[in-house]
Amino acid sequence: MSGERRIVAFCCRECAYAAADTSANARTALPPSVRLVLVPCTGRVGPLHLLRALADGADGVMVAGCLLGQCHYREGNFNAVDRVAFVRRLLESVGVEPERCRMFTMSAGEPPRFVAAVREMDRVIAALPPLPRSGDTAPAAGTTDAAVAGMGVA
Ligand code: FES
Repeated sequence: MSGERRIVAFCCRECAYAAADTSANARTALPPSVRLVLVPCTGRVGPLHLLRALADGADGVMVAGCLLGQCHYREGNFNAVDRVAFVRRLLESVGVEPERCRMFTMSAGEPPRFVAAVREMDRVIAALPPLPRSGDTAPAAGTTDAAVAGMGVA
């Protein structure tokens, strides 16, 4: 898988993962870069989960949950929106493109919306330069690798 882009998609069981499941049953092709992680609710996804995924090899991370106001745990997706915004600010502050972290919402009955979200994420990440990794040739001071490592998650 080396050299290929990787996107980790944290999907809430109630809506996003259900939409993904339906799209898979319909044999809708998803970008091969995307790896789904089932979570009970996006409110369970913390900043460290997102940063750890990036530090461990993902080029992008996305959080996909229920429509705002329709979280099955009331406020989980509002918390996720705040956490994604926090991580985006953190990434930007250390020289990493904030577009590498995105939030999407959808209902369980909207598989096309889920497919559009992962394709959009794949398109955005494909347009970015590779995220430097440990062992890559000398990243410049203040660039991604040093920056992500410096956040204490590498
Ligand atoms: Fe889907 Fe909370 S249950 S975001």
